[in-house]
Parts: sequence; C-alpha cells; structure tokens
Amino acid sequence: MAKPPMTEQFTDNDLFCRDLPTIPMPAMCRILVTGASGYIGGRLVPELLIRGYRVRVMIRGDLRGHIGRWPDAEVVVADAFNTHQLRTALKNIHTAYYLIHSLILGPSDFEEADIRAARNFRKVAEELHVKRIIYLGGLGDIRVPLSSHLRNRMEVAEELCKGTTPVTILRAAVIIGSGSASYEIIHHLVRYLPVIILPRWAKNRCQPIAIRDVIKYLVGVLEVSRTAGKSFDIGGPEIMTYQKMLATLASIIHRRTFLIPAPVSLIGVYAYLVSLFTPVPNAIVRCLIEGLKNEVICQNDSIKEYLRFPPISFRQAVLRALTREDQDRVSTRWSDAYPPAQELALKLDELDHETRFISRHSRVTDKPAGALFKSICRIGGSEGWYTSSWLWKLRGLLDRIFMGVGISRGRKSRVHLEINDVIDFWRIEDLVENRRLLLRAEMKMPGRAWLEMTIDEINGQDTRILTVTAYFDTSSFFGRIYWYALTPIHFFIFKNLIKQIDHKS
Ligand SMILES: NC(=O)c1ccc[n+]([C@@H]2O[C@H](COP(=O)([O-])OP(=O)(O)OC[C@H]3O[C@@H](n4cnc5c(N)ncnc54)[C@H](OP(=O)(O)O)[C@@H]3O)[C@@H](O)[C@H]2O)c1
Repeated sequence: MAKPPMTEQFTDNDLFCRDLPTIPMPAMCRILVTGASGYIGGRLVPELLIRGYRVRVMIRGDLRGHIGRWPDAEVVVADAFNTHQLRTALKNIHTAYYLIHSLILGPSDFEEADIRAARNFRKVAEELHVKRIIYLGGLGDIRVPLSSHLRNRMEVAEELCKGTTPVTILRAAVIIGSGSASYEIIHHLVRYLPVIILPRWAKNRCQPIAIRDVIKYLVGVLEVSRTAGKSFDIGGPEIMTYQKMLATLASIIHRRTFLIPAPVSLIGVYAYLVSLFTPVPNAIVRCLIEGLKNEVICQNDSIKEYLRFPPISFRQAVLRALTREDQDRVSTRWSDAYPPAQELALKLDELDHETRFISRHSRVTDKPAGALFKSICRIGGSEGWYTSSWLWKLRGLLDRIFMGVGISRGRKSRVHLEINDVIDFWRIEDLVENRRLLLRAEMKMPGRAWLEMTIDEINGQDTRILTVTAYFDTSSFFGRIYWYALTPIHFFIFKNLIKQIDHKS
C-alpha cells in the first residue's frame, strides 16, 4: 500500500515541537532544508511545515520518490558538488539547515566529500546573502585526538564558519530514535545475541539524546535569532557508558544479555562482526565504532540560556522508539539514504538496450487487483518472501559476508511503501497502486537486477494476470555464469512466489 499524504501520517502525538517554548516566525523568508532525504532532515521538514514556515527541500537525483512526500514544500534537486544547482537551491533563502553528510561513502571517502560539499555550500550561501546556516554536527573534545568521523564533523563546522554567513552549530552524540543507525545497532545486538563481547572502548562515556529533542533544538535555534553565530552542545539528561546503554536497553526489552570484556579490541573485526548481526552496513558501522574511542559528552550547557525544556531520558527515548516500531510509524530511517546516491542509480527504463536476461512467470487469477497489490506490498521484512524464506535469507547472509546490504535491512514500514523505500536487499524504483511494484537490487552481484510484480486486467473478464519478472543486465562472463547458475532456483522461487501472492490475497 502506498503511503498516505504527510498530513494524514502525523497525529498530534507524533509532533516533536508542540511543547517547544518558542514562537514560530513563519513570516521569515524561505527556509532551506538540505539532506531532506536523510534521517534528521526527513524528520525536520514536517515540523517546520506544521509551524507554518515556507520550506524548500533540497534532494539529489530523482524527484519521483519525493512527490507527495511534502505536498506543502517546494522541492529542488541539487547536489552540493554542483555550485550551479546550489545557486538554485539557495536563491531567496533566509536560513539554510545544513544536514548533508556522506558517512555512507565509508571511511576512505567521506571526509573529502563532506568538506568539499561544505565549502561549496558556504561560498554560494555567502554569494546569495543567506542570513543564517544551522548545522547539526557531532560532539567531541577537540583537545584530544578524535576519530576520523568526529574530526570531520568539526572540520565541516569550521568550513561553514569561514564565510560571512552566521552559522549556528549544534553538536550531538548518539541520537536515539526509531530508524537511527546507532539505535538499530544496539537494539539488534541486545535482542539477538545472548552474549556480547565488548571492546575496551565500551567503558567510554557518551551523552545520548532523543531524536525528538534534537529536532526541538534544530527548530528552537531558528526561532531564537540570538543563537546565530554560536555553537551549542546538546545532549540528554544522562552521561552513560556504552556498556550501560546496552545493559539498559536489555533490561527494557527483558533480555538477559551477558556483556563480557574482550581481551583485544580490533576496530575492523568488530565492525565486520557487528555488521553481520545488525541491519546496518559495514561502512557506517565502522565509522560509528571508531567514534566509540572518544568520550562524547557536552562541554557546556549554554543552550539552556536560549531554549529551556527538559530533554527526555535514554530510557524514555528507547521506549518511544520501540513504540514507534510496534505501531509501524517509523518516519525516516538511516537506510533512506543508503547506498550513497542510490537515487542516481540507473533505472530499468533508462537502460539504453534491452536487459540481457529475463525470467517471467504469470498466473491468471480472479482475485481483485487491490487484494493482490496488498499482498505484493507486504513482502520482505518480518513477513518474509512467502516461500523458500531460507533461500532468501541465505542470499542475504552471503551478501552480508561480502559486505553488501544483506536482507536484515528489512523495511521501514510493515504495510506502507513509497518509491525509494528499502525492502531487504531491494529498493523500490516504481510503485503504481494496484498495478506495479518494481524493485532494484542493491545486493552485491556481477550485474544489475530488477524484480517486477505487475497486475494486468483481462479485457471483458473478471480476471487478471499476475506476473513476476526478474531482469538481469550484465556484460561480464562471470555475470552470465551467475545468471545461468541461478536459473533453476529462480524458476522455483518466482513460480512459488506468484502462487503465494495469489493465495494470500
Ligand atoms: N543520525 C545520527 O545519529 C546523528 C548523530 C549526531 C549528529 N548527526 C549529524 O546530523 C547530520 C545529518 O545526519 P543524518 O543522520 O540525517 O545523515 P543521513 O541520514 O546520512 O543523510 C545525509 C543526507 O545528506 C545528503 N547528501 C549527501 N551528500 C550530498 C551531496 N553531495 N549533495 C546533496 N546532498 C547530499 C544525503 O542525500 P542522498 O539521500 O541523496 O544520499 C542525505 O539526505 C550530520 O551532520 C550528522 O553528523 C547525526
């Protein structure tokens, strides 16, 4: 089922800023939100819109997945590496939220990309006389050697501050909320592992903060103009070790988890193992684990002079995240922006030649199109693939072993889908209600693959044709071997999948 419009998705209880002690200033000129397809940006936009601001969102790549997501916002397509596009995005903007981050590029590439993006942004903002930039970065004590990720967050802040546009910097540590990568890592470790071997850095301290409080601070500093040009550390009420975070989460979900100190602590090994047991891919896990080596606690609480509200506790933040998941109301997730620039990936209808390999299975059915489409839209995630689930899991595990996205990414919502959402190792490329679901493969393979499920009416009859088509495009020898080797398995899986979709409708 496609997602309802944003206004229907948000109940009063979903709004983070309803008790924010500041007054909205919608008369202010346009606000730009960059990184709107990301975890933080995606949650900030609805809050600004509901407070009456004129919002322009900046996304990369294909607009199709975003049409209908923010019906009240203006959407521009711009890449921070392209100054021409940035000029369009920043034209007539009063305040710009800078939420661009390339962590998903992995440890070797993200630093240079993030600095280049910030430099371009700062220059164009200055040229177009933007009044303020608001940036959310990371906490860390600058007097000690920092992990590459935390250091990069500081360097981006420094880069943005080099211009004449006043910058408000918010620095946060681990953000706890449904869909956050850090939360999903600790949640999965505790839920599925009875014994966790802890690296020595698990005794380091951090100051986690709930996603709702981060959004409140982001909106709050906009509404307190005296915060322009200042830097603030934001955190929850507790300072705790990572070990304590794991133990607290275990007690909340009633798991008996044994936390055992490891004799040696090797980042690469830890990152690999953690990524095998959690939905979060190795590139992100590695950067986050490197960050555990540093204590990330607020150095000052000067934000309280401007924004007075009590941040919620770690326990409350986890309970809210669990409730959101149970209610199937996770609005943004780290996987929305992974893999990097997935929106720029070649689409099936953009191929300049016919896909080389196609496997198609059809079935005539008298079930209504709505019921068939509903079954199609429930595949993957906790529901599984209706048939031969172990084969899908095995493929996911193999992908994970080779550092792919794997199947444990699951899906954001159990029921609703929209273009660009993730379903296990697929991403939705096209979705036409009661007609078509087209998935693009993001697992490691020697070529490009798509899986299409369509429902076609048969003229003059009360029956329709349900079709599953697998497309594979490769020009490599190994790719051909891969396809032919899997042909018997595909035949078996897709034939049964189509049967099950029909039965479950
Ligand atoms: N999430 C946390 O737990 C956390 C904790 C502390 C601080 N923060 C800070 O919060 C900020 C936002 O983080 P996040 O978690 O929301 O990140 P995220 O989910 O990874 O999103 C990053 C966003 O940046 C966009 N982007 C990357 N490169 C771009 C480019 N060249 N041009 C235009 N857009 C580009 C991505 O667009 P695509 O979708 O096109 O890739 C995506 O929308 C970061 O500064 C981060 O340090 C986050």
